[in-house]
Amino acid sequence: MSVLIFDKAFVPIISEQEIHAKVKSLGKQLSADYAALNPVFLVLLKGAFVFASDLFRAINVPAEIDFVRVSSYEGTHSSGKLQVHLAPGKHLSGRHLILVEDIIDTGSTLFHFLPVLQSLQAESIRIVTLLSKPEALLYPELRTDYTGFEIPNQFVVGYGMDYKGYGRNLPAIYTLKQ
Ligand code: IMP
Ligand code: MG
Repeated sequence: MSVLIFDKAFVPIISEQEIHAKVKSLGKQLSADYAALNPVFLVLLKGAFVFASDLFRAINVPAEIDFVRVSSYEGTHSSGKLQVHLAPGKHLSGRHLILVEDIIDTGSTLFHFLPVLQSLQAESIRIVTLLSKPEALLYPELRTDYTGFEIPNQFVVGYGMDYKGYGRNLPAIYTLKQ
């Protein structure tokens, strides 16, 4: 069953059940790794809000949550420029941060955002992403600590991710129909 968003048809590639099983297992892993560390989940808006809300409820250790909104633009001269729309709070120093991302594509957003976070003097920073596209990665030095699914270099929507602002509410993950 394909769904239409504007001019494009999308077909499911990862079901709701598969996502929920993966989120549960990531939650279990994070709970074990962060027991007694009181981590702060830092959610990258907008895309990661759906994943983060399920992941946060799959954690059974004390944790806080906060939100940031950034975007990166790759100019014609290659290096990406970061725009910070909602900045991280100053209270993150000395804390264990878990950066929650929906998808790592080129890696530009995180590559440029990490130094901003590092300047806040957190105790540790790790990245959890639901999806990654290894073939699209332009910053191989970007280390992701927890990854849900690796997918081919194809555009996806659903479970928080959008095409022109729509499709975020789809409970599964869809890709462009060939
Ligand atoms: P990057 O900076 O190239 O790694 O891209 C990161 C951001 O672009 C993600 O957080 C998403 O918001 C968005 N993005 C990348 N790939 C996709 C996709 O296939 N569908 C929807 N959004 C995407
Ligand atoms: Mg995103």
